[in-house]
Amino acid sequence: MELGIEGKVALVTGASKGLGLGVARALADEGARVAISSRSRERIEAAAASIGARGFVHDTADGDAAFALVQAVSAELGPVDILVTNSGGPPASPDALSFTHEQWRATYELLLLGALALVEAVLPGMRERRWGRVLSLSSSVVREPNPALVLSAAHRAGLLAALKTIARQVAGDGVTVNSLLPGVIATDRARELGLDNPEALAQLPAGRLGSVEEFAAAAAFLCSEPAAYISGTALLVDGGGARSV
Ligand SMILES: NC(=O)c1ccc[n+]([C@@H]2O[C@H](COP(=O)([O-])OP(=O)(O)OC[C@H]3O[C@@H](n4cnc5c(N)ncnc54)[C@H](OP(=O)(O)O)[C@@H]3O)[C@@H](O)[C@H]2O)c1
Repeated sequence: MELGIEGKVALVTGASKGLGLGVARALADEGARVAISSRSRERIEAAAASIGARGFVHDTADGDAAFALVQAVSAELGPVDILVTNSGGPPASPDALSFTHEQWRATYELLLLGALALVEAVLPGMRERRWGRVLSLSSSVVREPNPALVLSAAHRAGLLAALKTIARQVAGDGVTVNSLLPGVIATDRARELGLDNPEALAQLPAGRLGSVEEFAAAAAFLCSEPAAYISGTALLVDGGGARSV
């Protein structure tokens, strides 16, 4: 299938490795001109060199810096046509009552406000040019909260609701706004959470983790021209893991 994004400018945040880098690679493979960002200049420049992208330093939790990032990318590559928001995940604990209010606030800045600020920064230009793709990398925990990941579930669910509202507001301007909900995909984060051990794998219907490439293929499609009539959607990429309808 022709994805029709050759020459489009894509910005993927939280992309020095893992899901973000995988999505950035898939977009670059489709001919998009890709900018990636993360907190570390060293890591993001190495990642950018590996996929022929441009690297930018940006902490997704710093919502006040979102506009400057979008301006810097636009100055180097042109106006952003495709935004993929991502960052690292918050701390995990099986005790949902164990987090400090400071951890709740920090996760709000990281997963909700920081992502929203990026979306707000790109939308005016996309609407004016009457073409845009916004994709939020979220989590299957918004559908089925996992006992260890309450910080993730609570804030990602809030962002999902905000994006659903925004999707309707910009649908008439040629801009789509969607979310991808990974189940367990083989990255450092999944390994750090111990989700790749044999016991955890046995709980997965597919009996294996998803690959970054499988996840990135879904992302590239949602960022494509043929996906123009898909908006306000949250797509699970979880190998059938979620039980809810
Ligand atoms: N893998 C899964 O199965 C899975 C499932 C559900 C949800 N998720 C969520 O998807 C996101 C990506 O997961 P992953 O598995 O790819 O994680 P990962 O392998 O740990 O990669 C995280 C990436 O985010 C960057 N990052 C971390 N904190 C950041 C921040 N504050 N601002 C900007 N960039 C930041 C890191 O780069 P620097 O360190 O260079 O900043 C790195 O490039 C996470 O939020 C995770 O919770 C993952």
